[in-house]
Amino acid sequence: MNKGLILVTGGTGYIGSHTVVELQQAGYEVVIVDNLSNSNVDVLDGIERISGIRPHFVEADCTDMTAMKKLFDTYKGIAGIINFAASKAVGESIERPVLYYRNNLNTLMNLLDLMAEYDVKGIVFSSSCTVYGEPDENPVTESAPIKKATSPYGNTKQICEEIIHDVIHSGAPYKSVILRYFNPVGAHPSAEIGELPNGVPQNLIPYLTQTAIGIRKELSVFGDDYDTPDGSCIRDFINVVDLAKAHVIAVERMLQNKSEANVETFNLGTGVGLSVKELIAAFERATGVKVPHKIVGRRAGDIEKVWAEPAYANNVLGWKAESTIEDTMRSAWAWQCRLRERGVM
Ligand code: UD1
Repeated sequence: MNKGLILVTGGTGYIGSHTVVELQQAGYEVVIVDNLSNSNVDVLDGIERISGIRPHFVEADCTDMTAMKKLFDTYKGIAGIINFAASKAVGESIERPVLYYRNNLNTLMNLLDLMAEYDVKGIVFSSSCTVYGEPDENPVTESAPIKKATSPYGNTKQICEEIIHDVIHSGAPYKSVILRYFNPVGAHPSAEIGELPNGVPQNLIPYLTQTAIGIRKELSVFGDDYDTPDGSCIRDFINVVDLAKAHVIAVERMLQNKSEANVETFNLGTGVGLSVKELIAAFERATGVKVPHKIVGRRAGDIEKVWAEPAYANNVLGWKAESTIEDTMRSAWAWQCRLRERGVM
């Protein structure tokens, strides 16, 4: 069964690779384009070990229009695109804003031009709960106000969402689903693919698992004086495989014209807020492994608390986050242990 050819930009990255597997298992053929700026080509082996199918792979930068045209001429009949390719480190974006605007905006604009030229039916865009800033109320619905972005990274997500709306309202002949992710964590249950950041991790879970295995001495908890029950920040930690599955549903929705609206936006979260301290406790409970940690000062730019109202995605997409936090923590730990077995780190 081949349900159609899907282009996954950034498909060797963390969320991208998990989504490629789910697409393949649902019967789609996948071509990945990735410049490998923050991922490794070995991810293709991991994907193939899980699904039994090696995705097509083009090493190219999505901002390179000549390379992208060549890709579309080679892989004829691309039905849909999922656009993961983007720079995503908040701190780096503050230091190198032009890099972020150029990469994230030009990638999207190139894809939108190519879609019209090559008759692609729809694009799924990776957005983030960062567009809500510090929300006035939790859980956050899709109609919550968009706050001024606190980083160039966050601003690129807001601007990209606006570009998609403007282009589609101008009459572009395709559909779009914008997915606002909360905090994706965990790894594929096979431990064949997972999150592998370059250098010292900025995000909580990779830092936590690297501490648990002894690569880092101690996890710093950034602040315990927030206005939350235990004083640490609260997030909505969503299992990466659950998240990946939502993309397959979104693709199906676009390709089968299931919605009347040409652009739709969904929150992807569990609906449950967990504090940083609660997450550490959940990891320790699920794995039996202790995580040395200490409380330090707040990290500049952090949001105090944010979690999703996922009812719209639950009811309209027919998607729901299903994994327990314990299973998700065990998957993150199994992946870290696999990296150790392989001598990666
Ligand atoms: C941030 C971005 C989000 C982006 C994501 C991916 C904002 C507001 N959020 O999410 O849009 O998609 O990164 O890069 O721009 N923490 C520690 N110790 C650590 C690391 C983190 O205590 O060593 C805490 C943080 O203070 C935070 C929580 O853990 O409260 C989650 O942090 P992190 O994993 O970095 O994600 P966000 O900042 O929520």
